[in-house]
Amino acid sequence: MKNIFKSSAVLLLTVTMILISACGNTDSGNKASSTNATGTEGATQTDKKITLGFAQVGAESGWRTANTKSIQDSAKAAGVDLKFSDAQQKQENQIKAIRSFIAQKVDVIAFSPVVESGWDTVLKEAKDAGIPVILTDRAVDSSDTSLYKSFLGSDFVEEGRRAGKWLLDEMKDHQGPVNIVELQGTTGSAPAIDRKKGFEEIIKNNPNLKIVKSQTGDFTRAKGKEVMEAFIKSAKAENTKMDVLYAHNDDMALGAIQALEEAGIKPGKDILIISMDGIKDAFQAMKDGKINLIVECNPLMGPQLMQIAQDVVAGKDVQKRILTNEGVFPQDTAEKELPNRQY
Ligand code: AHR
Repeated sequence: MKNIFKSSAVLLLTVTMILISACGNTDSGNKASSTNATGTEGATQTDKKITLGFAQVGAESGWRTANTKSIQDSAKAAGVDLKFSDAQQKQENQIKAIRSFIAQKVDVIAFSPVVESGWDTVLKEAKDAGIPVILTDRAVDSSDTSLYKSFLGSDFVEEGRRAGKWLLDEMKDHQGPVNIVELQGTTGSAPAIDRKKGFEEIIKNNPNLKIVKSQTGDFTRAKGKEVMEAFIKSAKAENTKMDVLYAHNDDMALGAIQALEEAGIKPGKDILIISMDGIKDAFQAMKDGKINLIVECNPLMGPQLMQIAQDVVAGKDVQKRILTNEGVFPQDTAEKELPNRQY
């Protein structure tokens, strides 16, 4: 009898302990509550609103403005509490913003790195704090890919190749040298490095195609104009012709077009213009005959980013690399395409 009592008491105690521990686990907030053998978190989530800290590059271009709007609008639509910071094209500002998101214990951090290198320390701080990081638009060159969960954005090397392929074809019957001037994006940024790489990889197939001048215009209209003015001046002094402008984004191309027109050079005719992004202003310029090719880069990644952020916080597996869909638009498509542009 005594033994039956003892066993019943042990059983009761065990059941009570299991119940207490189960109740404790229901309050897991919006964080994943389980971790599997590979270290990826299990898929338990409550309805709590997630907080996303987003460190944006800046407001350097029409593309960036569209990207920011897409992120802000989608956060609202998805019920995500967005903490937004503008780094004004400075890496140190982005690092500060990420550290502040860590201190505020946000659920997830996303950012578009101004430049490719120098992120390991702060990414490690986020990892140590248990806050997942999503890269959007631009990559980091870190060899430790466990420092971020996913990278959503364009294939910039492929964009450069697309520009190069069009030019290669355009110049297939051309005799003699083709002098290309290049307006690079922000020095050290993924799009500047990769768009140059992809373009060069293709144009080397025709020895007539040569990049004769190349300088950064920092992805801005003002800098694009300034650098093109300097190119025009030196071409005049050297008595050389510029046949093609390869601009790493539309804003620099539009600034350069202004400089060319002020110098009495007809953009799109006296000099071929290849640009990237596909903002409305550039399509208008292409419709007006001033740009010959636009390689699209899609900034409207807000809805996808919100989905990835929610999945990551819920502990779901997400793809490590998610590519955006993009097209190539030669001049004869401008009129038809212009009304469809969303940014
Ligand atoms: O990272 C994407 C690039 O950054 C866009 O091509 C450019 O316009 C922007 O500033």
